Amino acid sequence: MLIDQHNRVHNYLRISLTDHCNFRCLYCMPEGYDSFTPPQRLMQADEIVRIAQTFVQLGVNKIRLTGGEPLVRKDAGTIIKSLGQLPAALTLTTNGALLDVFADALQQSGVSSVNISLDTLDADKFRMITRRNSFNRVMNNIRLMLSSNMKVKINVVIIKGVNEQEVNDFVAWTKTEPVHVRFIEFMPFDGNRWNGNKVVTWKDILDAVSTRFVFNELPHTKHETAKAYQVPGHTGSFSVITTMSAPFCSDCNRIRLTADGKLKNCLFSQSETDLLTPLRNGEALVPLIEQSIYKKAKALGGQFDDFHQLEAEALHNRSMIAIGG
Ligand code: GTP
Ligand code: 5AD
Ligand code: SF4
Repeated sequence: MLIDQHNRVHNYLRISLTDHCNFRCLYCMPEGYDSFTPPQRLMQADEIVRIAQTFVQLGVNKIRLTGGEPLVRKDAGTIIKSLGQLPAALTLTTNGALLDVFADALQQSGVSSVNISLDTLDADKFRMITRRNSFNRVMNNIRLMLSSNMKVKINVVIIKGVNEQEVNDFVAWTKTEPVHVRFIEFMPFDGNRWNGNKVVTWKDILDAVSTRFVFNELPHTKHETAKAYQVPGHTGSFSVITTMSAPFCSDCNRIRLTADGKLKNCLFSQSETDLLTPLRNGEALVPLIEQSIYKKAKALGGQFDDFHQLEAEALHNRSMIAIGG
């Protein structure tokens, strides 16, 4: 088992397959970004599977594929099918544009849930945020996933002045669609032009919803990042991921592996442990993984207590595109 110095058990691995993406979301990939991992430094499909197997032996029972956009990787189907054989629940976070291409691979690999990023229900605004024209394709793919009985969570990063007016449109959407909409407080990452005034907090979001809907709180499971709610009579539900206003580090069970094979023991950790080079050199990974997890800081989310004073670059972290969320 992977236990850290604060007694948290880590059983959830997020693997970034690539730092490339077919979208250019304002809050994720910095303008003019050119720090992509060179191909020879990218984990190959067999290396991803070997590293994942090691984590499963250490108690990981849930694996989420992330990016950039995981499905732009040419061998994503092969990787999904191989990881689907492991005794761990496999899932992914995607912008949704290529889900139709991979629908069969996902079904065959036992993937039963997907998290899809969609920050607006308006086609013009979608183009402004993602700098791509794929709104209809993403909406069709959300319908495709729902019709194949996939559990669908919709990730909506709420940014003041961009999409905070749409909170209730998303909640209204849950009336007929069995989607779970998650409003995410805007987080600071290198180069994403974050500032505290652009954060719409959990409280602001619930205040906005309560101007139009009555809603109930849903039960919270231990490692869930989101606080969940439902409007009585609605098929779907909504929640808020409260990193900035109410961090949830004390129950954290997550480990991240970047596309260049570095273990990040926290979304906001500055230090990283290279696993790819030792793997290629035939060295043992287990002690490196155990040490890195053990040293995990108690609550890096706690540094946001007064986030209005914060600057994203002062966190000395990667850009979101190179972490995967
Ligand atoms: P579930 O397995 O469905 O709970 O997925 P998830 O919410 O962890 O993953 P997803 O990739 O959909 O991420 C949704 C949002 O949660 C993104 O903004 C992530 O950056 C954020 N998130 C995921 N894990 C963590 C974490 O450990 N800490 C913080 N602060 N945010 C996280
Ligand atoms: N703040 C909050 N969430 C973010 N995501 C990407 N960048 C940010 C940010 N700056 C979300 C995306 C995606 C998930 C992996 O992370 O919406 O769904
Ligand atoms: Fe691509 Fe997702 Fe980042 Fe948008 S949030 S640029 S879709 S990786």
